[in-house]
Amino acid sequence: MHNTYFTLPVLFVMLSNHYAMIYGHQYNWLILVVLSLAGALVRVYFVARHKGEASLAPLLISALLVLGVSAAIIPRPVEIMNTSNSPADAEFSRIEFIIKGRCASCHSTEPTQAGFTAPPKGIVFDTAKDIANQAETIHQQSVASKVMPIGNLTNMTEDERALIDAWFRAGARTE
Ligand code: HEC
Repeated sequence: MHNTYFTLPVLFVMLSNHYAMIYGHQYNWLILVVLSLAGALVRVYFVARHKGEASLAPLLISALLVLGVSAAIIPRPVEIMNTSNSPADAEFSRIEFIIKGRCASCHSTEPTQAGFTAPPKGIVFDTAKDIANQAETIHQQSVASKVMPIGNLTNMTEDERALIDAWFRAGARTE
C-alpha cells in the first residue's frame, strides 16, 4: 500500500514545470479536479494490484488525464508582437512622435511627402486630438493589417507597431 504515498508527489513532479500555470490558471479549479481524478485512478490501480487483479486501464487513463491537462495549459504564443513593451512604454508622447514621423508626412493638412498635395482620404494626424480620435483606425491600419504606412515608405519598425498596439490596448490615452 505504500505505493499510494507516491501518487501525488509523482504527479506534481511530472507537472512541476507547469506549477505556476496551474494555480494562476483561469480554470485552476477544473485542473485541480482533473488532477485529483488522475491521482485517484493511480490509487485505484495500486489497490487493485494489491488484491492481485490489476488492470492497466486506470493507470493509462490517469496518464492521459495528466497529459491532457499539460497540453491544455501550455502557454499559447500571444498575438502581441513584442510583449516586452508594457503600456507604460507606450506613453502618448512616444506615440505622437511615431505617428508624426511615420504617418503625418502624408496624413497632414499640408503633406510633405512628394506627390501628395492633400491628405489621402482626408485623414490627418496634425494634433493629439486627431490621433486619439482615430486610435482605432490607426491600430487597424498599422498594427492589425499593416497596410499603413503605404508600402512602408516611411520605414515604420515592428517595435513601433508594437508600441501602438500597447497604447491602443491600454485605452489610447493622450496624457
Ligand atoms: C506615403 C504616404 C502615406 C503614409 C506615410 C501613410 N499613409 Fe495612410 N494612406 C495613404 C494613402 C495613399 C491612403 C489611401 C489608400 C486608399 O485609397 O486605399 C491612405 C489611407 C489611410 C487610411 C484610410 C484607410 C481606409 O481604408 O479608409 C488610414 C486610417 C491611414 N491611411 C492611416 C495611416 C497611418 C496610421 C499611417 C502611419 C502608420 C499612415 N497612414 C501612413 C498614404 C500614406
